[in-house]
Amino acid sequence: MTLSNSELFAQAPGTQATATTQRFGGSDADYDRMIKLASNENNYGPPKAVMDAMNSAWKYANRYGYPDGNVVEAIAAHHGLKPENVLLTAGSGEVLQVVGTTYLQGGKKVVGADPSYGSVYSHATNIKAEAIKVPLRKDYTADIPGMIRAANDNKATVGFFYLCNPNNPTGVVVPKEEVDAAVKGIPAGMPILIDEAYHHFVDDPRYAESVNSVKEGRPVIVARTFSKIAALAAMRIGYALAPPELIRQMRPYSANSVNVLAKWGAVASLKDTAGQAEVRKKIIESRTHTQRELEAHGYSTIPSQTNFFMVSLGERTVQPVITEFRDKGILVGRPFPPMLNHLRVSIGTADDMDKFLKAFKEIFPKRSATTMARG
Ligand SMILES: Cc1ncc(COP(=O)(O)O)c(C=O)c1O
Repeated sequence: MTLSNSELFAQAPGTQATATTQRFGGSDADYDRMIKLASNENNYGPPKAVMDAMNSAWKYANRYGYPDGNVVEAIAAHHGLKPENVLLTAGSGEVLQVVGTTYLQGGKKVVGADPSYGSVYSHATNIKAEAIKVPLRKDYTADIPGMIRAANDNKATVGFFYLCNPNNPTGVVVPKEEVDAAVKGIPAGMPILIDEAYHHFVDDPRYAESVNSVKEGRPVIVARTFSKIAALAAMRIGYALAPPELIRQMRPYSANSVNVLAKWGAVASLKDTAGQAEVRKKIIESRTHTQRELEAHGYSTIPSQTNFFMVSLGERTVQPVITEFRDKGILVGRPFPPMLNHLRVSIGTADDMDKFLKAFKEIFPKRSATTMARG
């Protein structure tokens, strides 16, 4: 049976689907059979130490005031910060929503890049706020000067500034110098949300994490997740790092809904530095190999610093291509307007990527370098 895309990712009744929480509409067996390269998950799964930690926490399933592994203290120590710098959330998606709810009330605006991680903008729309979206430059980098200008030109109505670094869906980083320029160039006191969901996969020396800006007391909120390198996407755990005053402003809007297994799993995963280094290495190797193979096949890709990348389909639009992959048992990324001639592909295991490359070569004929230049 072939299910349509909307059937495969049906929104559960009564739920508010976000970019990451659409529910698979086929049978469990259909889902298990699919090669999942659509949602930038970690196809290696959580390591044994993390599974053991989660399993050991079941005994608290009937409790409210249970020991939580000191998860907030562990996160703070991991970054050289204090517990009052940490807001624990159900995935970093909750951080993005809490920031929106805190700083966009009264119809304020968020300034960000376009395309970028859409849930920030859709949440703004949901709460009757707005987004000022500054298009990426021709080389897919964020137009930081343009974004700074937009923040200053609209300073009375802008509630916060959003930087997804590295960016989803393009996989491109904003170099440290440009992040600093944004932090210093937007109006004083304007909160800047830096979404670092994919920072573990970066190997570009021009990149830096933004925790130092939090240490300096700047109005910076760093969003982090255990969904990607730590492979805990379905457990729903992430956090914000920010100066205590901003954490205090945001806390009332957080649901405080992280479950006991996720907390114990997160604490164990913070200690799993060797396992994470290994996954990072495998993903970067697979990313390099897959992009190189596609280029050799005649299809240009956007250089990526994440566990996904985009490939140009030339004249073909992405939606029918997604269907062709699905018919071959492979789930790939959804359309990301206005980049409708690009396909986003997550990096799975080496075996997943071999199957992806085989399917790609069946769908797309080999092209010469001159055709590629035109595509
Ligand atoms: C850039 C970015 N930020 C945040 C998230 C939210 O992830 P989670 O809520 O699982 O932490 C995602 C998920 O794909 C993402 O791509």
